[in-house]
Amino acid sequence: MAVDILLGLQWGDEGKGKIVDVQTKDYDIIARFQGGPNAGHTLEFEGIKHVLHTIPSGIFHDKAINIIGNGVVIDPVIFKKELEKLAQFNLDIPSKLIVARKAHLILPTHRLLDAASESAKGKTKIGSTLKGIGPTYMDKTGRNGLRIGDIELDSFKEKYNTLKEKHLEMLKHFEIQFDLEELEKPWFEAIEDLKKLTFIDAEHYIAKALKEGKKILAEGAQGTLLDVDFGTYPFVTSSNTISAGACTGLGIAPNRVGKVFGIFKAYCTRVGSGPFPTELFDETGERLQKAGNEFGATTGRARRCGWIDLPALKYAININGVTDLMMMKADVLSDFPSLKVCTHYNYNGETIDYLPYSINGDDIEPIYKELPCWKEDLTGVTAESEFPKELNDYIAYLEAELEVPITLVSVGPDRKQTILR
Ligand code: GDP
Ligand code: IMO
Ligand code: MG
Repeated sequence: MAVDILLGLQWGDEGKGKIVDVQTKDYDIIARFQGGPNAGHTLEFEGIKHVLHTIPSGIFHDKAINIIGNGVVIDPVIFKKELEKLAQFNLDIPSKLIVARKAHLILPTHRLLDAASESAKGKTKIGSTLKGIGPTYMDKTGRNGLRIGDIELDSFKEKYNTLKEKHLEMLKHFEIQFDLEELEKPWFEAIEDLKKLTFIDAEHYIAKALKEGKKILAEGAQGTLLDVDFGTYPFVTSSNTISAGACTGLGIAPNRVGKVFGIFKAYCTRVGSGPFPTELFDETGERLQKAGNEFGATTGRARRCGWIDLPALKYAININGVTDLMMMKADVLSDFPSLKVCTHYNYNGETIDYLPYSINGDDIEPIYKELPCWKEDLTGVTAESEFPKELNDYIAYLEAELEVPITLVSVGPDRKQTILR
């Protein structure tokens, strides 16, 4: 058996949570492979909206086991809050949610360092979610990090204190006020809650599951253009959000990867700082934001909006080896005067059709092709046969350009508003 991967192709918030939830019925295991509480994955069904940050989006199904992989960073306090929110749904969490021992812990001081580093950057700030993501991954690669498995050791408190002291030294370089005891108390309480879950060596667990013929879906967070290596650096997150990240974030060999589902919005959004060539600063951008309800699921910040960007999508498809495309939020585009698709960039006076080394700066202009838009409301559509002609044309155009089939079109936030092709 192979592991399928589902990930975002843009700057995050493509609708990954919704589709993982829709697909979970076909899988035995859902495994988050990177990121942490910077993610906000929204699921909607039976009139209720759920937002998950650390917990995989398969949690609402009876059968599936949900794994938090080694590539994930966990803030026990946020994780505890997530679990408390789920308590009312009687999900039998201890039998359905397991955590990799090699996943790293976000300490209260990681969050302080994130805040201090962002405020010191001033105008060049990343627009981080301030959840401590960057500093935690820095300690992971710097070989100082604290892992879930350390909680089981007698030396846990000692290890915690060593790392905390290192952080306090670093914090002396910043002007930042804090009351660490106030932050540590809930953190250690949340560690006790975390201990109630089963910790696993996920790489062994997954290898065994594959041997037994179990079907596994790896769930990504953020999006390809936020990848630390291939995103719009330095305006990125601190993990590998691409399909290779599923291998390192779960302990899966590359030849065990099956399908790669690439999720994209029918337009494009970005939250936080950084370049966004097709961003709209006019009424059309405002209309996309309003119609798409484009406000962050984690921070509530307004998302920047613009037209779909084909050079960036092609780049993402290539890097991830996408086998199936899934187009989200098609309903949001209904009844626009026309649709625009960025096909090329004017970059330093030259017309190019690829994403160059750096797009930070003002020297990149999108070149658009205009397509007719459909008038119909799509939110009640239940089958592809009901798609308006202009939507079919839009899909056919994108498929021809991207050279990958669009196998799913989403027409609303609810589980049911999902059309398979
Ligand atoms: P994720 O981070 O990729 O899981 O995406 P988010 O949950 O942060 O953002 C996607 C937002 O769009 C959520 O509010 C979803 O409920 C919503 N959404 C998902 N699919 C659709 C869709 O097809 N149409 C509309 N209108 N909203 C959608
Ligand atoms: P999901 O999984 C959208 C963005 C932040 C910021 C940059 C770095 O819901 O798609 P970080 O907190 O990681 O240091 O922030 O990355 N960012 C996201 N944008 N969706 C996300 O996750 C994001 N996670 C981080 O806004 O620009
Ligand atoms: Mg999100």
